[in-house]
Amino acid sequence: MVNVAVLGYGTVGSGVVEVLEGNRDLIAARVGKDIHVKYILDLRDFPGDPFADRVVHDVNVILEDPEISVVCEVMGGVGAAYQFTKSALEKGKSVCTSNKELVALHGAELLAIAKAHQCNYLFEASVGGGIPLIRPFVRSLTAERILSIVGILNGTTNYILTRMEEEGAKLRDVLAQAQELGYAERDPEADVEGHDACRKISILSNLMTGHYIDAEEVPTKGIMEISAKDFIFAEEAGYTIRLLGISRLEKDDRLSVLVAPHLVSVGSPLAAVKDVFNGVLITGNMVGDTMYYGRGAGKLPTASAVVSDVIDAVLTGTESVPGGWDETKVEIMPIEETESRFFLRVNKDDIRKVLDAFPGGEAVLSDEVVNQAGFMTPVLKTGDFNRTVEALGEAVLGKMRVLN
Ligand code: HSE
Repeated sequence: MVNVAVLGYGTVGSGVVEVLEGNRDLIAARVGKDIHVKYILDLRDFPGDPFADRVVHDVNVILEDPEISVVCEVMGGVGAAYQFTKSALEKGKSVCTSNKELVALHGAELLAIAKAHQCNYLFEASVGGGIPLIRPFVRSLTAERILSIVGILNGTTNYILTRMEEEGAKLRDVLAQAQELGYAERDPEADVEGHDACRKISILSNLMTGHYIDAEEVPTKGIMEISAKDFIFAEEAGYTIRLLGISRLEKDDRLSVLVAPHLVSVGSPLAAVKDVFNGVLITGNMVGDTMYYGRGAGKLPTASAVVSDVIDAVLTGTESVPGGWDETKVEIMPIEETESRFFLRVNKDDIRKVLDAFPGGEAVLSDEVVNQAGFMTPVLKTGDFNRTVEALGEAVLGKMRVLN
């Protein structure tokens, strides 16, 4: 029998127990032993819960118990979660987590501690929820030089954008509705401002390079400035709008990483990723495009990924699971030097001025919006684009990158 502890009995924590119990027999058959939840750490008590007798309030009970070989850290945050993870790894207990904030911030250090103590720090659930994404990356695409990762990595914002796309709704109305339905947090800042997607693309970039990308340095723009009119012009031009995390090897092997809303061609597989789903396109130099799709959030999908790591930890034992990164920091290419096509929403009266400012661009008109126009630029350096937009002043009402 293998004894595990679950740190945090919230949505994901209770999901981990549910997956381990619900699939107990088939997991035991695959692992060759029973996996038993010995402890659940939480500040609260859960009278009446079938696992109430496993709840403890002192992490040392778990850390000092030699029978515990695997710990699931699903409490979130970078304070206590960091300390508990570090202590567990130092005692040779593998840690499986859904905590993207902690993985993005301290992943290199925690991976090194795990290696030094013959155990593993595993984080399949930290990016893309239930989508197998980390494991294919570190176990399957190992013969590849990864050229780019383009991902819809946040379910909340994808739900909002899909509702806007399909119903012509205003962003703030959809956000309020999503909060009522429990799809969006009461404090949705991390999602709508792009910080959650930023942590996830940073983790994938760490795996891509084998080094550390500081998420704080990743240019990040959320969805709050997107208007229903942007969708009208996007559709007119054959596009939709998605919030993308992008990591790309540019000229001279420099790495560009960013999070921003993009116009995405309706023919792209990313345009077909709707509602709370996530989709990630990983391109290798030999294999070409590969795509990963599924539920990027939610209790059981996320818990399923945590439990897959528990199984991996048990099967791997004291060996190191492949993948990871060191603490050497990668300098991200300044966004001003990256190239893209851009979409603009402008005052219709100023369209001549905009055409003159961006030779080779194309106006996009719609009967639904009489006093504004859309505009697609040719490929430009971001710095040049920003300077021209600034010079156009109040003629420009909105701007967005276009996925190449
Ligand atoms: N708030 C996140 C999302 C949860 O909406 O995708 C999963 O990381």
